[in-house]
Amino acid sequence: MIGDKKKSQIPEINHKVPGKNSGKIIEMEEKYLATTTKHLPLAIKKGKGSVVEDVDGNKFIDFTTGVCVTNIGIGHPKVLKAIKNQIKDFIYFAGTDFSYEVQANLAKRLTEITPGKFAKKVFFANSGAESVEAAIKISKWSTKRNQFIGFIGGFHGRTMGANAFMGCKVVQRERYFPMMPGVWQLPYAYCFRCAYHEEYPKCDIWCAKIIEEIYFKQLVSAEEIAGILLEPIQGEGGYIVPPDEFIQELKKIATKYGILLIDDEVQTGLGRTGKMFAIEYTDVIPDIITVAKGLASGLPIGAAIYDAKFDFKIKGAHSNTFGGNPVCCASALATLDVIKEEGLIDSVNEKGKYMKKRLEEMKSKYEFIGDVRGRGMFVACEFITDPFTKKPNSELADHITEHSFQKGLILMPCGFSSIRFVPAFNIPMKILEKGFDIFESACAEAANKYAKIKSA
Ligand SMILES: Cc1ncc(COP(=O)(O)O)c(C=O)c1O
Repeated sequence: MIGDKKKSQIPEINHKVPGKNSGKIIEMEEKYLATTTKHLPLAIKKGKGSVVEDVDGNKFIDFTTGVCVTNIGIGHPKVLKAIKNQIKDFIYFAGTDFSYEVQANLAKRLTEITPGKFAKKVFFANSGAESVEAAIKISKWSTKRNQFIGFIGGFHGRTMGANAFMGCKVVQRERYFPMMPGVWQLPYAYCFRCAYHEEYPKCDIWCAKIIEEIYFKQLVSAEEIAGILLEPIQGEGGYIVPPDEFIQELKKIATKYGILLIDDEVQTGLGRTGKMFAIEYTDVIPDIITVAKGLASGLPIGAAIYDAKFDFKIKGAHSNTFGGNPVCCASALATLDVIKEEGLIDSVNEKGKYMKKRLEEMKSKYEFIGDVRGRGMFVACEFITDPFTKKPNSELADHITEHSFQKGLILMPCGFSSIRFVPAFNIPMKILEKGFDIFESACAEAANKYAKIKSA
């Protein structure tokens, strides 16, 4: 059995990676699949918990959870059981046109676990991008305004509304104009690389205050802004944790001008950062929250959960075909049950501390680790060329990712030169430790190599 330590070591790399079988699949995919964002030559045969086996029999430790999706491990038995039970009854019946209990139950549960004790409503989508699209529409519809504020470094999805807020990499935007018009993007509170060359807290959160002090005076009327869309911790942008006051200040501005605050928790949500939602660290109550990724442990579902007073007042203003799919809803309910019943948010906090400690120790050893940041089990480190210029060192981040992979650890980059660490909440401690040992040995190897180059 995969992950069974009596029979096998984890990780277990028996064949060159990618092996012959993997190579064939990768070649076929290269021929027939659209070019997307693949970064490691891994062709998966099966997975269980935090261990993934490729088609050549190599077993890897998974520190990616498929980008914060399999948060409770791959194929949790309670989730599989819920899916099987639902499949026996029915797998689809137009949830936006008809009614069924599992959808109603999930909507109720989502309104209960999101911050804010007021009546809420839920729109079910099929992905993160679609949840953001729903949030855009809810904001436009309810405020009758059509412009937005977003942030550089933000990642909100690839559809043309959500894409208008994208600010991670030029490649995500170039050749796609015009996207949805009316999005004003500002630098995020990325204190390690402040766009204003300020220092926190001396800066007095200028990156938020600039909205009122410059934008609303010189560029756009506050009365035309429908929503402020942000990630409470930027994910794809590099796991950037802003000071809590940044989000608190945005909330103040939003409230003052009747603007909706949209909290995109597609990557950070559902326990990943050590609270159910990352925005809870700031005590700010958003008007709309978007979720997707980890909600149904791998089945496609997304949701926008919002203050009921902003609901569409007429039928047909927004809808879709697959939203609220019953199998996805059953899987989501089981996932939320597991997080609660198995005390996984406590686990996230405990393991998150260990993860940060390991990375901080490495930072003190290796100059090329410039910053370690994150909350809970949502942690990353940023690679730099040197501590003086802090120039991003993406080459080194890629090298270490590749080296770790060859030793049996699956990692994923983020930002310009960061590696993220997002294992499953219930990863066994021994496997977590082993994963960090592999990562550390990749750093040590890189340090040797660099030292050799320096003295050569
Ligand atoms: C914060 C955030 N919002 C939205 C999205 C888009 O989600 P999807 O890829 O499911 O459309 C992502 C994806 O990484 C994300 O991280």
